[in-house]
Amino acid sequence: MTDRYAVIGNPIAHSQSPRLHAEFARQCHQDISYEAIHAPRDGFADAVAAFRTAGGKGMNVTVPFKLEALDLADTLSERARMAGAVNTLKFDEHGTYGDNTDGVGLVADIRDRLGVDIDGRRVLLLGAGGAARGVILPLLDAGAAALVIANRTPERAVELIAPFGVRAGLHAGGFGMLAKHDFDIVINATSASLSDQSLPLPPDVFADGSLAYDMVYGKGTTRFLADARAHGAAMLSDGLGMLVAQAAESFRLWRGVRPDTVPVMALLQAG
Ligand code: ATR
Repeated sequence: MTDRYAVIGNPIAHSQSPRLHAEFARQCHQDISYEAIHAPRDGFADAVAAFRTAGGKGMNVTVPFKLEALDLADTLSERARMAGAVNTLKFDEHGTYGDNTDGVGLVADIRDRLGVDIDGRRVLLLGAGGAARGVILPLLDAGAAALVIANRTPERAVELIAPFGVRAGLHAGGFGMLAKHDFDIVINATSASLSDQSLPLPPDVFADGSLAYDMVYGKGTTRFLADARAHGAAMLSDGLGMLVAQAAESFRLWRGVRPDTVPVMALLQAG
């Protein structure tokens, strides 16, 4: 029987997830269906329950429901707990399992697709909203020698790292603390790119040969990436690869096989 999966969000019409998972299923010869579900803002739990009752095996969860999904899960992966958000639900006889594949998706994209080592490197993460929170543990697990989180509102960055305790190389604060420091990998997890705004970064924050990565995708060369190029970043990437990789990790959780993201990435880039 065909196993049913879905992505749930609000809005959801432009989600790439159905297309991604259809490609993964074709590639891995998996008999699944994958649909998009638009839930009312106050109707997340009901929509999940209805999908599950109808035989659903798993869901991807997107804006604005990732925090509600955390509460709804019976058990959580450590990375979901530390991220404080769930983007993947799996239903089985044990109940509802909540995971978060955003961070491993980012790490896989940087390491495997872009070929940039994280182990032993200095990483700067910009922003302290949901997007930043989800990737801290996976970046630390990937061996970042330093992980600095800078945010317009410094207290939010400081709050973000509190659950990790005191850890060598892990720091948080405002943009002002970046003066005279440079980084091998600079990741933009703020929403500034969506409103085409520049971040107040010191120009020498990009080390020689550094990667500038914007988690936003579908916006072309964002202001952050353009600024990074002007300030000497050697490599630029938007977040499309992260989107594909987090989907592949969800697929692996559900189906036990990890699809090859390379052909799917090429397909998306082709439009
Ligand atoms: P979400 O949780 O969905 O990511 P959010 O909590 O609003 O959304 O987070 C957005 C992030 O982008 C925050 O880190 C925000 O900084 P503040 O915490 O100071 O608000 C950051 N951000 C948005 N616009 C920005 C701008 N123009 N300059 C700098 N930071 C910006």
